Amino acid sequence: MPATVIIGAQWGDEGKGKVVDLLAERSDVVARYQGGNNAGHTIVADGETFKLHLVPSGILYPGTTCIIGNGTVVDPGALCTEIDELEARGVPLDALRVSGNAHLIMPYHVMLDGAVERKLGRFSLGTTRRGIGPAYQDKAARVGIRAQDLLDPKILVRKLEIALADKNEVLERLFDMPRLDPEAVAEEQLGYAERLRPFIDDTALIVDRALAAGKHVLLEGAQGTMLDIDHGTYPFVTSSNPIAGAACTGVGLGPTRIDSVIGVTKAYVTRVGEGPFPTELDDADGTRMMERGAEFGTTTGRQRRCGWLDLVALRYAVRLSGVSELALTKLDVLSGFERVRICVAYRTREGETLSEFPYHQTVFHGCTPVYEDLPGWSEDITECRSLSDLPPPAREYVDRISSSADVPIRLIGTGQGRHQVIET
Ligand code: GDP
Ligand code: IMO
Ligand code: MG
Repeated sequence: MPATVIIGAQWGDEGKGKVVDLLAERSDVVARYQGGNNAGHTIVADGETFKLHLVPSGILYPGTTCIIGNGTVVDPGALCTEIDELEARGVPLDALRVSGNAHLIMPYHVMLDGAVERKLGRFSLGTTRRGIGPAYQDKAARVGIRAQDLLDPKILVRKLEIALADKNEVLERLFDMPRLDPEAVAEEQLGYAERLRPFIDDTALIVDRALAAGKHVLLEGAQGTMLDIDHGTYPFVTSSNPIAGAACTGVGLGPTRIDSVIGVTKAYVTRVGEGPFPTELDDADGTRMMERGAEFGTTTGRQRRCGWLDLVALRYAVRLSGVSELALTKLDVLSGFERVRICVAYRTREGETLSEFPYHQTVFHGCTPVYEDLPGWSEDITECRSLSDLPPPAREYVDRISSSADVPIRLIGTGQGRHQVIET
């Protein structure tokens, strides 16, 4: 029963793209189950860099079916651009499928995302402004437009009329923005529909058949556990569930069909956008991580905030997703630190020590990290391909993480390249 979920165990950008690409070589299907083009998944293969936003990270293997599942939100224009760019680079896309039930990000969602962020001013969330939140809002309000609506122009216009009746009032009265004409929006979307028509399909059925035939299916998460709308640092989260459980609803399969969950974590922590981050560094160590790790957002180009690894948050991620193994990325970035720090617990404002992630935001916002210091290593590890190649302090660091999280570390990233990895 070979279905594996790959989740981000932190605040996103853990290196999920690289891990999925690596495992996709041995898989038949790769499916995205949530999020949209707020994601930016990087693959560096044979010196070429691919930044994928909606297209699953298995696309570089021509035989692999790549599914954009029903739980995602799809911006048709952005998807057309991504398809065109990949095709122009010689990547075949005939095995791409988009769920007919996936909700679409419409131009008004993007406008509203930006307008709400501007209005919030210093209280803004720092979203990617791709319309993700407003699109999921409409899905829950049952006024969303779905990929299948692109196949029926009459229904599309009717649904746009209903959705825009309210939206136009909000755009005009609250945000002083232009009203949108449903016919004009429909016309633009129908242009994309021509391009996307061959890809729209019953993707839950494709996944079911693949699993029934004993094929290997990867379920690719976007964002990360701490950005989960239920379990993350709400309201500084995304509008979907990146944790593993959402792979079931987001692709359309039962939990009994999933047999492993890989949690992807950096050897340190980064976060883009606003919100609490206990181990954040505002010093030379943080700058060093940012520079050596090239920590700039794949989607928005924003500088990522950096800090030491947080084992409290990592154990929380392992628990929430039932992580069965970890992929530890970017260990190479920590070469050259005299000592590496790991946050092993939180100290509350009242002086209490917490080993579990606190549910209450006020407690969490007041937490400071309790660190354990381990010896650093100066060696360049980018050529290491087995555990025994690693300098002893790096191995000690890896062992400490694995024993604290109580799960084996299956992969260790030692560089950006596809083959810069240690499989344990
Ligand atoms: P994702 O959103 O989780 O797929 O991660 P991103 O692609 O947004 O960010 C991760 C960045 O780290 C990308 O630029 C990757 O190429 C890079 N990366 C992934 N693994 C490693 C690694 O082990 N070492 C180094 N140096 N870079 C890595
Ligand atoms: P990948 O898949 C890192 C962050 C945004 C913001 C918050 C809400 O590449 O790991 P949204 O646009 O989703 O409403 O923004 O979530 N965010 C990400 N941070 N990696 C991502 O995706 C992210 N997608 C959204 O910066 O703080
Ligand atoms: Mg990313």
